[in-house]
Order: sequence, then C-alpha cells, then structure tokens
Amino acid sequence: MGARVAIVEMGPRDGLQNEKVSVSVEARIGFVEALVKAGLTTCEVGAFVSPKAIPQMVGSDQVLRAVSAALPRGEFHVLVPNEKGYEAAVAAGAKVVSVFASASEGFSRANINCSIAESIERFKPVLARAKADGVKVRGYVSCVLGCPFDGEVRASAVADVARTLRDLGCYEISLGDTIGVGTPAKARAMLRAVAAEVPAEHLAMHFHDTYGQALANLYAGMEEGVLVIDAAAGGLGGCPYAPGATGNVATEDVVYMLEGMGISTGVDMEKLLAATNRMSALLGRPPVSRVASALNAKRAKAGKD
Ligand code: HMG
Ligand code: MG
Repeated sequence: MGARVAIVEMGPRDGLQNEKVSVSVEARIGFVEALVKAGLTTCEVGAFVSPKAIPQMVGSDQVLRAVSAALPRGEFHVLVPNEKGYEAAVAAGAKVVSVFASASEGFSRANINCSIAESIERFKPVLARAKADGVKVRGYVSCVLGCPFDGEVRASAVADVARTLRDLGCYEISLGDTIGVGTPAKARAMLRAVAAEVPAEHLAMHFHDTYGQALANLYAGMEEGVLVIDAAAGGLGGCPYAPGATGNVATEDVVYMLEGMGISTGVDMEKLLAATNRMSALLGRPPVSRVASALNAKRAKAGKD
C-alpha cells in the first residue's frame, strides 16, 4: 500500500450543509482556519448553490475570500452546480471548484433537479470556462454504493459517470457513498470497475459512515490504490436530499487509522480535536467521531485525576 494518502477536509461544507443550527460566517471562517492550522490544508469550504436549496451555505463567498486571504498555504474547494455558481465562485477567488453528479437518476433529480445526462450538459460549459480560466475542477459521483430513491446502483453506472467527468477534464473524481450503506467487498468491486475506466490515481473516496463501515471501506479502497480520502472533522455531514444519511467518515478516525498504519498525515490531532470541539459546542452536541470521543473522555479523566 502506498505511503502517501491525501485527506480532503469536508467539515465546513458537507459537515455544515445539513445542520439545523445556523453557524455564522465568522464561525465558519474560524473553523476553516483551525482545520488548516491543524494540517488539513486541502479543505472544501462552501457551496455556490441555490440559497433556497441549502441556506446553510449562504455566505460561502465571504468564507472563501477570508480564508484565501488569511491562509495562503490552503487549497480551498467549493461546490458549483452550474455556470451561475461557477461565476460566483470565481468572483470570490475560487481556484478549485467541484461539480457534482450522481450515479443514480433518483438522487440526481432530488439533489439538483435534473437527470444525470442534463447535469453533464450543465457541467460542460463550467469545465470549458474553468479550463480557459486556469481553475481546477474536481468531480463528484454520488450514490456509488446505493441510492435512497433507486436502491441498488450498478458499478458500471458509476464507472460511466466517472469516465464522463474525467473526459470533460476533472482532475479527480470523488466517489460518494452518500448514504453510507457500502461494505468492503462491494466498495472494492465498485472501485475496481471504476478504476478500469479512470486510473486509481485520479480517484478519491467520499464515504459517509451511516452504517459504521466507512473506515473498513476506505481500507479496502486503499488496497485498490485509491489514496485520496474525503473526511469531515468530528464526523459531521450529510445531505438534506439523501434521507437517512449521516455524517462523513470522521477526520479524526481516518487520521488515527492512517497514523497507526505508519502513514504520516501531517495532521496535529490535538489541534484537530480542538477545532472539532469548538464546532461541536456551537452545534450543541458532542462529535460522533469515535476517536474524538475517546480522546475527549481520556482528557476529562486526566483532568479529574
Ligand atoms: P433549479 O430550481 O432546477 O434551478 O435548481 P434553476 O436554474 O431553475 O434556478 C432556480 C433558482 O435558483 C433561481 O432563482 C436561480 O437564480 C437560482 P429564483 O429566480 O427562483 O430566485 N440558482 C442559483 N442561486 C445561487 N447559486 C446557484 C444557482 N443556480 C440557480 N448556483 C440547482 C437547480 C442545482 C440550482 C439546485 O437544485 C441546487 O442548488 N441544488 C444544490 C443541492 C446541494 O447543494 N446539495 C448538497 C451538495 S451535494 C452532496 O452533498 C453530495 C456530496 O457530498 C457527495 C456525496 O456525499 O455523495 C458532494
Ligand atoms: Mg457527502
């Protein structure tokens, strides 16, 4: 297994897009700053989507501007569903944008109100403009291991969408188990099918942890040569258009596993935990990350001793 694994931090975007508590722009900026200072230098910080669809991401332009100015070593990603979002993102200084498609028609319709084929047509001008502007484009494929509306999703359908996004010019394709239903054998089979179309070095894994399988699925994927992992501090996350889905795999849990395997992440766990705990306090609930919970319990015990 390769010794270099990259983490793309999702907390400020996927992590907060489904929260009922409204988190201020200032707090979102502070969250990104704390995560980058913890070593999570590649971070998705917002989304330029309809404010009616995701009110939590309003102010993403302010977040992006502030963190780009304050943290020159950060690589900040933002979601764009169409040209309107692309224009707003670039106006706010975006250097990396992410388009998001689905492997299932049901989720495509629910999430972005169009078919898979229509979504690809929407992305074409975004990719063409990004190429001309020197903006990098990442592509997501959602529902790669199951769809809340259509049920089973064929690996060949995932591979088709992934190849299309890659052919359009996406530098990396992030494969989303949006509802966290996958298991390692299934994840491995899906990744093999996709890697036959898009080389593993251009793939990332974006696994939600609804059924507690995300780490095992990531391990299987790493064995297949996929070495980019999307994760969210504290295990925050979810999508309002994916009923039943819970958070992304927790960054703390990923870092703990990788470091335990002798793979250096460059992440300072104490600083990451502090960032997670501050956001958890704002949200009014403890982190779901097992590692964060264990470390918090250990600290509390040490404080008492
Ligand atoms: P629509 O209603 O079909 O779009 O929505 P429309 O073009 O007909 O426009 C409707 C209204 O939205 C108009 O405003 C537009 O101006 C506005 P109105 O005239 O009604 O006042 N609008 C926009 N406003 C701001 N920014 C934009 C934009 N585009 C149109 N970019 C649309 C289609 C895609 C816009 C909508 O469905 C949408 O914004 N969806 C976003 C859904 C979303 O963000 N979901 C969560 C992220 S995806 C995810 O979490 C999965 C992922 O994590 C991977 C995984 O886990 O699998 C990435
Ligand atoms: Mg997600």
